[in-house]
Amino acid sequence: MSLAMKAAVLNSQPGPLEIEELRIDGPGPDEVLLQVKGAGLCHSDLHFMEGIFRAKVPAVLGHESAGIVEAVGENVRYVKPGDHVIACVSIFCGQCKQCLSGNPHRCNNPAATSRPRGSAPRLTKQDGTPVDQFGRLGGFGEQMLVHQNALVKIVDEMPLDRAALIGCGITTGMGAVFRTAKVPPGSTVCVIGAGGIGLAAIQAARIAGAVQVIVVDVSDEKLETARQLGGTDVVNASKVDDVVEAVRDLTGGGVEYSFEAIGLKQTSEQAFNMLGLGGTATVIGMVPSKQMLEIRGIDLLQEKKLQGSMMGSNQFRTDMPNMVSMYLDGRLKLDEMVSATLSLEQINEGYAAMKRGEVARQVITF
Ligand SMILES: NC(=O)c1ccc[n+]([C@@H]2O[C@H](COP(=O)([O-])OP(=O)(O)OC[C@H]3O[C@@H](n4cnc5c(N)ncnc54)[C@H](O)[C@@H]3O)[C@@H](O)[C@H]2O)c1
Ligand SMILES: [Zn+2]
Ligand SMILES: [Zn+2]
Repeated sequence: MSLAMKAAVLNSQPGPLEIEELRIDGPGPDEVLLQVKGAGLCHSDLHFMEGIFRAKVPAVLGHESAGIVEAVGENVRYVKPGDHVIACVSIFCGQCKQCLSGNPHRCNNPAATSRPRGSAPRLTKQDGTPVDQFGRLGGFGEQMLVHQNALVKIVDEMPLDRAALIGCGITTGMGAVFRTAKVPPGSTVCVIGAGGIGLAAIQAARIAGAVQVIVVDVSDEKLETARQLGGTDVVNASKVDDVVEAVRDLTGGGVEYSFEAIGLKQTSEQAFNMLGLGGTATVIGMVPSKQMLEIRGIDLLQEKKLQGSMMGSNQFRTDMPNMVSMYLDGRLKLDEMVSATLSLEQINEGYAAMKRGEVARQVITF
């Protein structure tokens, strides 16, 4: 059994998204079919639309979605039709060394959670051409067909257009602070880039009890939002001569924890160079794959650290319900992060606004 659904398809790289009617298969034994209710626009999809990172095409992009379970395969016990869920790209097998050592976000056994080679594709065009699902999710569609280990169940009270943001941006930004860097109370923090990911990191730093949360961006509007969400000091990078000096001045010698949430060489190096003794810089942004970063060797003698973070080092089945609780009790601000609600047809306009740096987060509702 296959159904027709509308989705935003990337047909070439670089290229725009095209709204097409696709066929979506029924669930295999371990799969779940979802009715998508909210899909957030993350900058990572834009990197693929621009061809900065390679992707299989044609593909349905989108990896920040929440919805309602419509049908489940015969082995699925975790969810049932009617359950509310958030999807996550960190699909875990539960059997490999990464999964079993507490790092399911680094699962390196995708075959265990994919359809066997040679079986029917989950998505096809009307003429039968297979269509890939970005991140094995494909969130920019009316429906999604995913492995059950790509989902977490959440409480019905949680609005699904807000829950969607937890699927990538919130988990990535908060997880970088809570899990990757493990920022303790009383820390000094700087977040470079106050888009969806950066604003989530800023909120996590506030919740973690950081005493100072310095925010760097090039947009005064973003910096104002950042202040409302927990930033204690702001630096407009386009209005100072030297971002690193500006942050060092604000902290009396450098920060303990910095986070880069853009994906550039210059800002990644700034994140490292603004550290005080023993500080840790965490690069969250997707830096182009061939781009080299330069740091001074002597800084390592001062025990400064540079590290990456993938999807906030999450354990999403337990982390995401906690984030839902923090939203419902008012600690995690999501409404303030949503600049616009769009229809699927407006998706390219949404990405154009992101490219111009005008928006915090945008969400598609169906
Ligand atoms: N590590 C991961 O697992 C992971 C997950 C999701 C997203 N990402 C990456 O995180 C990055 C941020 O994503 P997003 O959705 O928040 O993007 P976004 O476009 O919403 O935000 C980027 C922000 O950076 C600011 N900015 C741009 N250039 C700047 C500069 N030179 N100095 C200071 N500020 C500058 C922009 O004004 C904007 O506010 C992207 O590279 C994305 O691919 C990584
Ligand atoms: Zn993302
Ligand atoms: Zn695994």
